Amino acid sequence: MSTTPVPERTLPLRKARKSGAAHAPKRILVLGATSGIAEACIRLWAERGDSLYLVGRNADRLAVVAADARTRGATFVDSAVANLDDTGKHAEMLAHAINSLGGMDVALLALGVLGDQGEAERNFVAASQILHTNFNAPVSLLTWLGNYAAQRKAGTLAVLSSVAGERGRKSNYVYGSSKAGLTAFVDGLRNRIDREGVRVMTIKPGPVKTAMTEGMKGSAKFADVDAVAASLVKAIDKGTDVVYVPEIWRVIMCVIRMIPERVFKKLNL
Ligand SMILES: NC(=O)c1ccc[n+]([C@@H]2O[C@H](COP(=O)([O-])OP(=O)(O)OC[C@H]3O[C@@H](n4cnc5c(N)ncnc54)[C@H](OP(=O)(O)O)[C@@H]3O)[C@@H](O)[C@H]2O)c1
Repeated sequence: MSTTPVPERTLPLRKARKSGAAHAPKRILVLGATSGIAEACIRLWAERGDSLYLVGRNADRLAVVAADARTRGATFVDSAVANLDDTGKHAEMLAHAINSLGGMDVALLALGVLGDQGEAERNFVAASQILHTNFNAPVSLLTWLGNYAAQRKAGTLAVLSSVAGERGRKSNYVYGSSKAGLTAFVDGLRNRIDREGVRVMTIKPGPVKTAMTEGMKGSAKFADVDAVAASLVKAIDKGTDVVYVPEIWRVIMCVIRMIPERVFKKLNL
């Protein structure tokens, strides 16, 4: 897959509305822009005047997110409707998006499906669909974006994986294994291109209140999406390698990983 050269555009410095500090606007590509977590990040980026290119598969919801970003003060907003399962169209879509943005400082990959674990246990086609959207499609996007950013020796690739990828559990091991694969891929990509000046971020949220978790047992206690987005926007500015959000999940997963398998296999998790 070749990366098409795109012209670079610089954006004027503008005052961040909330902090009053000067903020150099970033050119941000969001893949899966109608995701609850992505939408909350987009609101913050728009408010500080960043430029946004939004990709999502639901045209109506995407139009609402784009209009909201314009209203909040984004310097530039463009969007494209795309089903990101269609990996054959990724190269053309990404080149077009980056051309429209005039370059790319940040790409956020937020697409993902939880899927139906029970159905995936009975039917490999259902399992394969989860693996395709959560692993194959991001791998295709990151292969192109990684090469693009490495050629320019700049950029941040922020990828939403999950704490679910850290240990397989009976309640969601198909989703969990797709995220385990994605985490390993992103970690390896960072090991390859961090030295080229590209920040590659593995983001591992614990449960967050979004459409994905709506109606789940205990969902009222899940993390607030705006608080999660505020942490992510900060971490993306810094280019932190591995982000647990909320941070307490770093400790929780450390404990969960240490439970001996002879005990773990008997738990109902
Ligand atoms: N919420 C959590 O508790 C949690 C925890 C850990 C990790 N994560 C991860 O964080 C990311 C964002 O999740 P979220 O919580 O914001 O859930 P969400 O609101 O359900 O967002 C998922 C997004 O992925 C999009 N998507 C799925 N398949 C796609 C495809 N083939 N092409 C284009 N877009 C596609 C969905 O589009 P449609 O709206 O069109 O369906 C939706 O916008 C996901 O990768 C998820 O696995 C979430």
